[in-house]
Amino acid sequence: MLDINTIEKLDRIATPFYFYDMDLFYKTVDHVAELAAKHDIKVHYAVKANVERRLLEYISGKGFGADCVSGNEVLHAHSCGFPAEKIVYAGVGKSDKEIYEAMKLGIEAFNCESLQEIFVINEMAHVHGLKANVSVRINPDIDAHTHKYVTTGLYENKFGISNHEFDKLIEIIHKSEHINFIGLHFHIGSQITRVNEVFSLECLRVNEIVKYFESRGLRIDNINLGGGLGVDYDDPDGNAIADFETWFNAISDNIVRREDQAVHVEPGRSLVAQCASLISRVLFVKSGETKNFLIMDAGMNDLIRPALYGAYHKIENLSAAQRSFFPTFQAYDIVGPVCESSDVWGAGRLLPLSVRGDIMAIRSAGAYGQVMASRYNMKNLAPAVFSDTLDDAPQVVNYFE
Ligand code: LLP
Repeated sequence: MLDINTIEKLDRIATPFYFYDMDLFYKTVDHVAELAAKHDIKVHYAVKANVERRLLEYISGKGFGADCVSGNEVLHAHSCGFPAEKIVYAGVGKSDKEIYEAMKLGIEAFNCESLQEIFVINEMAHVHGLKANVSVRINPDIDAHTHKYVTTGLYENKFGISNHEFDKLIEIIHKSEHINFIGLHFHIGSQITRVNEVFSLECLRVNEIVKYFESRGLRIDNINLGGGLGVDYDDPDGNAIADFETWFNAISDNIVRREDQAVHVEPGRSLVAQCASLISRVLFVKSGETKNFLIMDAGMNDLIRPALYGAYHKIENLSAAQRSFFPTFQAYDIVGPVCESSDVWGAGRLLPLSVRGDIMAIRSAGAYGQVMASRYNMKNLAPAVFSDTLDDAPQVVNYFE
């Protein structure tokens, strides 16, 4: 929970904005670095979760690599200190320009998602006299037991190459002279909370697939298991750091690896989700026919997860916490200003009596928040404000003065 002093400072900043708790961020990354070293697991941060330069520079400084899904992410990660040889690039639809730029940079691996992509990369490398590092994304047909929009490892999903194409794939790799085949890539989904069960199963399936490829003459130097570790959206303070221990233990206990085989993971959400809140102000309190509405100045344009996935984010009234230790509670539908009925932060949420001007924290907003924001309704993009530079943020203007 935030201290009174910080809340007072937040109250003076123009809303909405993303507030980053840098202590928690550093603690999370340091914890993962320590565990990864212990388990000899290489970490590539999934840049798509959050692209703030300050965060990326710290993560790259810890020696992590970057997992990217677009040409711009590759270039951005590189400019934030990730060396090319630690950048991997996945995605089912890479354009020729994106492939060319990443190839010129000499990235660690293209995680190829179709036979045609391997063919195109091989051809381009040939034309430019280059050799491209290629890893192949496999669809292992594993149910990650998560939201259907973020499940990626089932045969019905568009990602990766499935087993009916394995033999053809192996033949193509053998024939492609301008690629350097380095290994296999997997990623079965996001916000996985049945951590031990799902990731153990993933490892067992991966062992079989690695064995199959190696038995057909392809050496697998890198086994990339993807990301997906879930975070606790219900209790962001109780579980501020995701359960990396269980994840890494599941991998160490189940993956079969040679000494010279590297194991990679690609966490995105779990590194950054809990370190930011979207801070928003109550614009109006409105009594509907049957409900009370709190109308906020942040909307689905700032953080689309509730509108898109029906995702739950904990919401706290920071101003009310300052007003009284024993407030009266009331049920509110907390909504944004956007002209869409799905622009709802939470329905029937019990909160202390709230008034115009109160500031609210929409918690666990550090992952897939700012990066998925849009300027729908011509709203401005909510900026990032960091806990250690709070005084530099743009201050509230009082138009009644
Ligand atoms: N690796 C690959 C190839 C990925 O596609 C993803 C995420 C990750 C790693 C990182 O997964 P994470 O550790 O963050 O679960 N917008 C959605 C999440 C989409 C995830 C897409 N892929 C959300 O807000 O829940």
